This record gives sequence, C-alpha cells and structure tokens, in this order.
Amino acid sequence: MRSTPPRSWIFVGLAETFAPGEVHSVEIADSSRVVYRTASGQLVVTDAHCPHVGTHLGQGATLEGDRIRCPLHGLRFEPNGECVEARAKGVCMRLGVHPVRELAGMVFSWYAPDGSGPSFELPQLDDEAFLPYRIRTERLALAMEEPLEVHAVDIGHNTTLHAERDVEPVDPLTIDASSIHASLVMRHPATPAGRRLLRLIGVPDGHVRTHVEVRTVGLGYQHIRSTVDSMGIVVNQFMLAVPRAANELDLHVVYSMQKLERPRLPAIFRPFPLALIEPPIERSGHAELMAATDEHMQMWTRKRQLAAPAWLPEESGLRDYRAWADAFYS
Ligand code: FES
Ligand SMILES: [Fe+2]
Repeated sequence: MRSTPPRSWIFVGLAETFAPGEVHSVEIADSSRVVYRTASGQLVVTDAHCPHVGTHLGQGATLEGDRIRCPLHGLRFEPNGECVEARAKGVCMRLGVHPVRELAGMVFSWYAPDGSGPSFELPQLDDEAFLPYRIRTERLALAMEEPLEVHAVDIGHNTTLHAERDVEPVDPLTIDASSIHASLVMRHPATPAGRRLLRLIGVPDGHVRTHVEVRTVGLGYQHIRSTVDSMGIVVNQFMLAVPRAANELDLHVVYSMQKLERPRLPAIFRPFPLALIEPPIERSGHAELMAATDEHMQMWTRKRQLAAPAWLPEESGLRDYRAWADAFYS
C-alpha cells in the first residue's frame, strides 16, 4: 500500500471547459485548487484557499481581467499569485500557484506531495486532426501505477483478457526516467457491430490487424494510439489517472478518433461523403475501446496491489515497470 500519491502531471479537465471568466474547482489528492483562464487567455491553476483567512475561491471568486478576486474581502491576486491590494502592503500574502500545461486540448497541473516543482515534461502532441473528445470516468481503489501498467508493459493480458491474436512487439520497449514507450501489432476481435463493418471491407473472421503504440509519461498520463490500416482509422485513447488519496484515483478514459482521410479509406467507403461515414465509424471505434475498457474495469474494481507479486520469468518488463513507478514516489 502506498502512503502518498506520486509526483506527476495530473489531468484537471479539457481546455474547452475553462472559458474566460469562470473559476473551476479541482481536487488532486490533498491539494484543493482552482483553475481559470484570464482575459488574455492564460490558463492559471492556484491553491483554492485564499491566503488571507482561507476562503475557498471556487465559492464565488470573480475574475477582473487577469486577476482573481476573493469573494470574502475582495483581495485580488495576479496570475503569479502576487496580491495587488495597496492595503495588503507589508503583509506577507501570496496565493500559491501551480505549474500548468495544455496538451492537445487537455489541461494538466503538476502535483507533488512535498510541493516540489516539475521534474519532467509532458510530450508534444499534434491534435489538429482529432475529433471531439469523449470522456468516461471511473473511481478505483488502486495506486496510480496499477491501471496504467497493463498497457505500458503487460503484453500477456492482450491474448487472455481481450482475446487478441498474434500479439507481437514492433519495437523494443523503451524506458527512460519519466516515460515508457511500447509498440505492438495484434489482431483485435471486433464487437458484433465492428464485425459488420469488417465484413464490408472483406475481413470475414472479425479480427482486425491493429498497430498499438503506448506512451506513458509519469503516472498520470498514458496515450494509446491504435491504427487500423485496413479501415484507414486512427483512434486515440488517453488514460488519465487523478489521485484522490494514496490508494484511490479517478481514471478518466478520454477517446478521440482522428478525422478520416479519404485516400486512406477502404475503396468501398470512398464514394461516400466523409460527413456521412465519419460519425458511425467514430462511434464504432469508441464502442470497441469501451468494450476493452469494460473488460479492464472487471479486473480493476476489486484488484489489490501486492507488495511482492509472483512475476513469471518472462515478465521482466513488469518488474522494470514497478521499479520505474517507485521512482515517482521518492
Ligand atoms: S479570505 Fe480572501 S480576501 Fe479575505
Ligand atoms: Fe487492455
């Protein structure tokens, strides 16, 4: 059992959620924060509690240009946390500000139990071709590394839990201090709706060859990119873990298919307008990933973290993953 959450970049919401003028409350384990966008468009994450006498800024704070104004006594703070009121001159008062990053329309704030600053960065991601996100959120009684582990390194689960066939690594697993990259191919068994689509393009057995790339950065961010060349589709799934306590988290499963490109589509689909075929294909991709997520939820909802798992000889990747995850807790 963990005694604290790890340090990591933590998802606080989609960028589109944070409209100028609104103050949103977020909880990252023991850290209550507010998120807002200034009039000039800057995203700001601060402590939720006013340093004057502790009013929660999510309970009625307003924005005046780039400044946030506490609802109780009206003190105003710059995006850097500085109090601008002349009447506070000489009083040591500063609103705590937290590092924030925007990545492909998702907003992350840095969290560390000891209050230290970022020790790594999130990757760059080109999201120009992404369709709107869909989000599913589940609360799990697990440490942060548990739900990310399966797709980061655990190839064994693909054939058993998901009944995928011919699972093969494309590139060797790479691990550095802050990230893990895996690249696999497999034949994925489609859901009944997906099978109907596959029959249209001449895949009668319902198993579609899929290239899956997984990039895990820290313990709050995992990007699973699945490419199905025979259908001309790429779907993105982000597993974003938000700690609520040392051994409890909210897992946000964020899905976005990439816009279809006509030259990549199977010939049978090309004559149709993209506006006609994109929505059902997007829904079908979402259904496939949610079916796989359901299979995982069955495992995660009553899983327990073992202090000394009985690794099999071929599972050195799992052992390496746990050692890698441990470093985010130190
Ligand atoms: S509590 Fe915020 S201004 Fe007094
Ligand atoms: Fe899986």
